[in-house]
Amino acid sequence: MNLFTFLLHLISAITTDNCKTIQCGPGITSDNCIEVIDDTVSVYGCKAGYICDYSILGDVGPWQNISCTQSYNFVNKCGNIYENKQLTGMPCCKDSDCYSNKCNSNACKGYNVNEECDISEQCDLDLWCNKKKCTSVKDTNLDCSIEEQCKAGTTCSNGKCIKMFSLDIGSKATSAKACMSNFIANDICENIEIYSGSRKLEKPYICSIDDDCVYKLSYSGDVYMTNKCVCSGVNKTIGYCGEYAKYLPDVNDMWSEMQYTNSNCAGSMAHSIDQQVLYSCGSISYSLFMKFTRYYGQLAYFNIFNSEALKYCGMELQIFDPSYEFALEISGSWLIGLGSVLGLWI
Ligand SMILES: *[C@@H]1O[C@H](CO)[C@@H](O)[C@H](O)[C@H]1NC(C)=O
Ligand SMILES: *[C@@H]1O[C@H](CO)[C@@H](O)[C@H](O)[C@H]1NC(C)=O
Repeated sequence: MNLFTFLLHLISAITTDNCKTIQCGPGITSDNCIEVIDDTVSVYGCKAGYICDYSILGDVGPWQNISCTQSYNFVNKCGNIYENKQLTGMPCCKDSDCYSNKCNSNACKGYNVNEECDISEQCDLDLWCNKKKCTSVKDTNLDCSIEEQCKAGTTCSNGKCIKMFSLDIGSKATSAKACMSNFIANDICENIEIYSGSRKLEKPYICSIDDDCVYKLSYSGDVYMTNKCVCSGVNKTIGYCGEYAKYLPDVNDMWSEMQYTNSNCAGSMAHSIDQQVLYSCGSISYSLFMKFTRYYGQLAYFNIFNSEALKYCGMELQIFDPSYEFALEISGSWLIGLGSVLGLWI
């Protein structure tokens, strides 16, 4: 295998007028799960024991083949499986699997207060690694210089520990996580509004390939970015201005639901915005994890979600759920319809 092969393909990109057709491949494979042949991109599932990183489908960048990689399922398979010491809150089978040499109910405990550490993730809950010693974290509103100094579910913005996703649009912030939109520009919490020229676009922000998409900041009104219309994966003439869909005002509600105050992990994992980390660290429930994954998938893969290019395999391959509609109230009913697919998502 030639590691530099991909350099040859930098000319083809999802944004250019050289749009490709994206389609569900027939079945599963252990080889390429994203296969680019001429003007067609086929998307496959990986056979058992293998996983695919589908993120290129949501990226604006050059196309390349992506292959299935082996995955290991550690759950309930205790033996000599952990090559490295495990961080606080991570799974373990025996004491020696953990930095602290303490494995309680299959999760690593961290170093206690004043014990020596290299990184905050090795310390126990509500501690951070300050000058090589695990030290107590600070309460909300106290002074900070880095996020790790603050409690789980908070961040350091404008020199103070502050609850994540709590500031209104227009507030001053130095960390995006402090904003209800999880987005800042010029140190202000902002959302994105989408225009084509001077015309404001409505969902799903359809554009003609070759048109410019203008992404404006909702508070300041300034132009954040002007980029080309992004290909839909089905039509060489029509695309979407969906590159910054993650910062639309609709998404603020999702972040407000994601606020958390507890974590079984420490350091950056206790300040994460990654739903997989938050679920593994016990910060969010399984139903919230699922809700986030389904909704965020639609935003991260905005163009192929809206064009329905992967309508028949998007859910099965855990890329996004084409049928999901985000609603603020927490209800368990949507879980039932998913049935057997649920088990695949972790
Ligand atoms: C992807 O792999 C297939 C063979 O599996 C090959 O024919 C094709 O040229 C490759 N495409 C790219 C862009 O490397
Ligand atoms: C592709 O876009 C053109 C508009 O340029 C439209 O006439 C045609 O119906 C579209 N095709 C599909 C399959 O959506």
